[in-house]
Amino acid sequence: MIICIGAGPGHLDFLTHKAARLIAQADVVAGFNAVVDMVRPLVVPAAQVITMCYQDQVTRLADVAALHHAGKRCVVVFMGDMHFSGFQYLERVERACGHRVETVPGISSAQILASKGRVCFDETTFFTFHRRGDLTPFKQHLRDVLAAGRNAIVIPRPWDFMPRDVATYLLGHGANPDHRAEVWENLTRAEAEWEGSLAELEGQDFSDMSICLLRALTPMATGLEGER
Ligand SMILES: C[S@@+](CC[C@H](N)C(=O)[O-])C[C@H]1O[C@@H](n2cnc3c(N)ncnc32)[C@H](O)[C@@H]1O
Repeated sequence: MIICIGAGPGHLDFLTHKAARLIAQADVVAGFNAVVDMVRPLVVPAAQVITMCYQDQVTRLADVAALHHAGKRCVVVFMGDMHFSGFQYLERVERACGHRVETVPGISSAQILASKGRVCFDETTFFTFHRRGDLTPFKQHLRDVLAAGRNAIVIPRPWDFMPRDVATYLLGHGANPDHRAEVWENLTRAEAEWEGSLAELEGQDFSDMSICLLRALTPMATGLEGER
């Protein structure tokens, strides 16, 4: 048995009962170091813990898949919810197992941000730049969405497209410098919040654990031209 579990945004208060039960019953608990550390208080001493990082994830997931095929109850824990910025990892788990796996959703950092910032999902588009490969189509889509007068919730890419780079990109494509932006760090733990304009965001540094909200302006006021 193998189940992928959304472990929530950081604090165990935001982990579902179902996720907690599956973790406590598991023979094997696997995932990225930071996520496994988060759920460690729920892991029973007899369970085998397999942690991984970007460099060794394929080998480590092969170990997890072998244990799963040997009949162990395995869970792989994901940050937040795997349906937002988690699919590349989910696909790696499935590739290692050779079949589709069950998922148990969790509470995403996007949901905590929406709650803190009073953001209506219906009027919001979600972006993750936390992915390998060319970001160009996703950047263009972000411009289109802002030009259409929608909110954008944005997960940055830690190594080269952080919130300040998002601001530089948008300003370089004619965005209104007064467009409102917020950045939330370490939601549900040592939270920090920054709020300002796109022009001010260009000068700000944030940690990897940050998520950005670009509030809707009326389409005329964004300064951006969509691709249509
Ligand atoms: C690979 S993505 C996974 C997102 C996750 N699946 C979710 O639903 O929140 C990891 C990024 O999500 C954002 N993130 C996750 N948890 C966060 C939190 N508690 N506070 C702020 N940002 C968070 C950060 O940008 C982090 O680098």
